[in-house]
Amino acid sequence: MTSDLSAATGTRYPEALRRRLAEDLETARRRTRALADAVDDDDLTRQHSPLMSPLHWDVAHIANMEDLWLVRRAAAEDPGPGVREDIDHLYDAFTNPRAGRPALPLLDPTQARDYGATVRERALAILEQAGPDGRAIMDDGFVYGMIAQHEQQHVETMLATHQLRVGPRALDAPPPPASPRAAELIGTEVFHPGGWFTMGTDATGPDRYALDNERPAHRVEVTPFHLDAVPVTNGEYARFVDDGGYARPELWSGAGWEHIRGEGWTAPMTWEQRDGAWHRTSFGTREPIADVADQPVLHVCFHEALAYATWAGKRLPTETEWEYAARYDPATGETRRFPWGDEDPTPERANLDQHHLQPAPVGAYPAGASPLGVHQLIGDVWEWCGSGFSGYPGFAPFPYEEYSQVFFGGDFRMLRGASFGVGTVTARATFRNWDLPIRRQIFSGFRCARSSEHA
Ligand code: AVJ
Ligand code: FE
Repeated sequence: MTSDLSAATGTRYPEALRRRLAEDLETARRRTRALADAVDDDDLTRQHSPLMSPLHWDVAHIANMEDLWLVRRAAAEDPGPGVREDIDHLYDAFTNPRAGRPALPLLDPTQARDYGATVRERALAILEQAGPDGRAIMDDGFVYGMIAQHEQQHVETMLATHQLRVGPRALDAPPPPASPRAAELIGTEVFHPGGWFTMGTDATGPDRYALDNERPAHRVEVTPFHLDAVPVTNGEYARFVDDGGYARPELWSGAGWEHIRGEGWTAPMTWEQRDGAWHRTSFGTREPIADVADQPVLHVCFHEALAYATWAGKRLPTETEWEYAARYDPATGETRRFPWGDEDPTPERANLDQHHLQPAPVGAYPAGASPLGVHQLIGDVWEWCGSGFSGYPGFAPFPYEEYSQVFFGGDFRMLRGASFGVGTVTARATFRNWDLPIRRQIFSGFRCARSSEHA
């Protein structure tokens, strides 16, 4: 596909594309700075959970990835000189598991910020002269889109660290929109007739910086199914908890039961009983679950999602069903970019970009619903699917194997959609996220599905 922002090999990127790439990078950096500047240096260098890096590691890791790809690799004389090649080993996520990162001789917070600023200045200077040069990473500015997405992924990770941080509230945000229709949508299902659709994408161009695991596009046949119109809410999940959900082994997989018993989990992360009522803590603020009963449940692991689905007499959707529901337009038979069509997300369509710092009540984004009436597929919470992680038929790693391929076949479960913590540049219906089935520090929720008896 050729977009109007493409340029011929050997020319600079068109002005509009260059501006857009720089903007996507700057949007991500504003958020990185906001999350880092919200706390003091002591807080930035502390490890708030063994599951997470100290925040100043993320700040320098973001800079280091940009140093690798937008300074060294994007340079005409690939690889050009890097800003700090001597510290690559400290910020390599694979050789340094999260738990061990605080013990490394890391840059201090001021050095980490300066490193990021220096790299960015060099990257933008290179971008001024860059263009398609025959290397696939440079086509339509792909590598710039990839690095903007990488920074936004770490911005979400940093937000998860903020959620785990103990201390007075450091972040502020306006409340999410209300939903007058919540009560009428909760507990309802939408029938999907199924059939053939196009899963994944071959798209190129600045509108579609799809990563390697979203490629290639391929036709898939979906059998008829029902999908919940909205994600499972706090109110619904509280009924599962209060029905003894966490004390009934028959509702759990063997691995799930073993895990919750070992950890002593009796409710989602951050939930606690106070004066006989469930409360949650959201970025340092405790609030009654009753006040947010219509919001999607947040911070549940795959095992908890599956146990709830079993309790409800349902199951989790497959990744294929999820993407079909999010992309298929029954009126035309076309597969689209988003549930609402092909246009980019807006604040009226989806809860993204850390605007609200919590999910909105279900039904709050009617403009973002699918043609069949499935709400909030993009934004609010990541949604656990029943599928494991593998490459699509014809998958090829691009541009580096450590993004997706090394995780294929592992004990991961897929998450689809996007949470309120996701930057728009990474929010799309083809995007594939994954994590271990025991993880719940991420902004994860779910909706249920059910096979249809009538094919
Ligand atoms: C796609 C979210 C699972 O954070 O582990 C960031 C994204 N990859 N840096 C992760 C990622 C390299 C990745 N997830
Ligand atoms: Fe990373």
